[in-house]
Parts: sequence; C-alpha cells; structure tokens
Amino acid sequence: MIIGIPKEIKDNEYRVSQTPANVEMLVRAGHRVLVEHKAGEGSAFTDDEYAQGGAELVAGAAEVFATSEMVLKVKEPLEQEYGFLREGLLLFTYLHLASAPTLTQVLQEKKVTAIAYETVELSDGSLPLLTPMSEVAGRIAAQIGAQYMEKVHGGKGMLLGGVPGVPPCRVVVIGGGIVGSNAAQVALGMGAHVTVIDKDINRLRYLSEVLHGRLETLASTPASIAAAVKEADVVVGAVLIHGAKAPKLVTSAMVKNMKPRSVIVDVAIDQGGCVETSHPTTHSNPTYLVDGVIHYCVTNVPGAVPRTSTYALTNQTFPYALKLADMGFVEAVTTDASLAEGVNVYRGHITHSGLAESLGLPYTALGTLLTR
Ligand SMILES: NC(=O)c1ccc[n+]([C@@H]2O[C@H](COP(=O)([O-])OP(=O)(O)OC[C@H]3O[C@@H](n4cnc5c(N)ncnc54)[C@H](O)[C@@H]3O)[C@@H](O)[C@H]2O)c1
Repeated sequence: MIIGIPKEIKDNEYRVSQTPANVEMLVRAGHRVLVEHKAGEGSAFTDDEYAQGGAELVAGAAEVFATSEMVLKVKEPLEQEYGFLREGLLLFTYLHLASAPTLTQVLQEKKVTAIAYETVELSDGSLPLLTPMSEVAGRIAAQIGAQYMEKVHGGKGMLLGGVPGVPPCRVVVIGGGIVGSNAAQVALGMGAHVTVIDKDINRLRYLSEVLHGRLETLASTPASIAAAVKEADVVVGAVLIHGAKAPKLVTSAMVKNMKPRSVIVDVAIDQGGCVETSHPTTHSNPTYLVDGVIHYCVTNVPGAVPRTSTYALTNQTFPYALKLADMGFVEAVTTDASLAEGVNVYRGHITHSGLAESLGLPYTALGTLLTR
C-alpha cells in the first residue's frame, strides 16, 4: 500500500503520525511511505531519519494526499486540507466528528473512508488509541491548573499544593476516566485537595482504592457538581460518552457562582466541552475569561509535548496502521471488530451510531456496506 504522512498544520501542533522507526517497519513489510518534508521536525525527527528508514520525502501535502492510498495523520483535516480529500482515500487520524458537523459533511460528500482513532474500541469498552493522549492531556491539565493559579499568569496567586500552615487549592475533576485519573494523580502529587466526580460508582471505587483514599469521590448529579464547582479553585472537565458530544454538566450559572480567577481546564472540548461557557482555543491563545473565571479549552493539549506524545500515540496506532496496510481496509475491519468501531464515515454514510445520534443524521451499519 502507498501510505502518506503529511505535516500537521493545526496551531502549535508538533506531533507526527509515525516515527522513523515505525516507517522503517512499514517499508520492510513491503509498503511505500511518503513523508512530507519536515513532517517530523516538531517531534525532533529529521527528514534524514525518515529517508534512512526507507521513506520517500515529498515537498508538499498535496502530493502526499494525491499519491497515497492511506493517509496517517494526528489531528482532523483543517479547511485548508479539505481540497486534498477524495473518494476512496483511507484517512486514519483523530476526527472528533461529533463536534464537527462541517467536516463530517465534507467526508461524506467526498466519500472518504474515515477511521477515527478515538472511537477504535476494544471489547472491554476501552479506547486504545485515545488512551495515550488522554494520559498526556490529563497530566498536563493538572500542570495547567497550577500554572493559571499563579498571579503572573492572571490567576489568584495560589500554590496548588499550599505549604505547611497554608491550605492547598481545591481541584475538582469531572469524569474519572483516563484524563480524569491522570489529572487527579498529578494534582495529588502536587499536594492539592482533589475531588473526582463520576457517574460510574465502580470507577470511583477503583480510584479510591488505587489512590489509597487520598482523594474525595462524588457521584455525579447536577447538585453535587454545582456544590463542588462553587468551592473549586481548578475544575478539570474530563467526561466522555463514546463518539458523542460531551454533556454540558457545568452550566453558565455554576460558572457565575465560582470564585473570581478560578480556572476551568475543559479537556473534553474536543467533543464540544462539558462546560456551557467553553469554546475551543489554541496553544497560541489558550485562555479567555467568563464571569472572571479563566477558561483553558485547547483542543490539542498533547501537542505541547510532541516528543512524548508522538511516541505514546504511535506505539498504539502503529499495529492498526500496519494491519490496514497489510490487509487492506475491508479485510482489516472485517477481522478486527475494534478497528471496525473506529470507522466513522464510509462511502458517504455515517457508520458510528453514537456519532449519527449526536449529529441527528442517519446511521448505516458498516457491515451492510462492505463488499469484499
Ligand atoms: N483536549 C485534548 O487535547 C484532549 C486530549 C485527550 C483527550 N481528550 C478528551 O478528554 C475527554 C475524556 O477522555 P478519556 O479518555 O478520559 O475518556 P474516558 O472514557 O476514559 O473517561 C470518561 C469518564 O467520563 C465519565 N462520565 C460520563 N458521563 C458522565 C457524567 N454525566 N458525569 C460524570 N462523569 C461522566 C465516564 O464514566 C468516564 O469515567 C474526551 O472527550 C477526550 O476526547 C481531549
């Protein structure tokens, strides 16, 4: 198969979709890999390293997309890239389509075969291609909270962990999954007072057990969220309903009730955000104020630590990319149910039920469209 690796163009996005070592394995398996000039630069991989691995260096994204049968990316295609999309192109990347109706329509109209990393799902319900970035984003979320508590960053001027004789900040994490548990662990490590809110009591039981009861847990209800958010210095939004738009659990009224210069880090923003006052921001301009509350809503948080993130991401995506390249799309999704869960758009149809429901569009089961 001919595989393309374009350079990411999202604001301050420095990850790349495969490392030189993984490219070498694809080439050894008999595939052609086209890598856009300087695609790996932001993650400190040189063109020479890709060339040594057997990649063909290509001058621009247009050629990568036009020549490749499968394009591996990190973030969703931006408007400047829509023109490169075409019928039958296999696109394997993060898509987060529940909060992107226009891109969904483009993928449908152009009949792109779109597999979203974030909806590849194992039989136990875990999301192997979202997990590594959620681990990174969760850990950074705690650091961001600490940073924006600092006066020099517009915050209240409080140290997250306090010091002996002075109490720590209160960090409230809504959603105790991968992002939430990683945010909680790092915030606890910094000495903060941490509360995790989840609707899944077993998840709270697990977190309480593994963190030796060092955190407070709360069952998710509008009342428990309102009370916790009111007292919080930092709120981390980390809920997810697979494939769907995030529920708005923190309302504008709750934000109004927060103390001035508190911080909201809405990591769930890529699925639309779980805070009513959230809207997407970028690393260049990451925050804004609503009712005196600092909102940080960057949609590609792991892009800030590309070296770590590229390795963490590609460790997980590579086996799936190799399978798609070796077997071709139809065989790969027919024999791997988790990969089939990742297919969001195929032949102009929406093939993920959660996505279809979120966008109020018709759903077509992938199996009914596949022909070998
Ligand atoms: N902004 C970024 O750069 C970035 C990076 C990585 C992940 N994310 C996003 O972060 C979000 C969380 O990802 P994750 O991997 O932790 O997901 P996850 O599935 O591991 O965890 C989500 C948690 O939310 C809980 N939840 C669902 N509904 C709830 C409710 N009503 N009240 C309380 N809890 C509820 C679930 O029980 C689960 O524990 C996703 O939207 C993901 O795409 C964003």
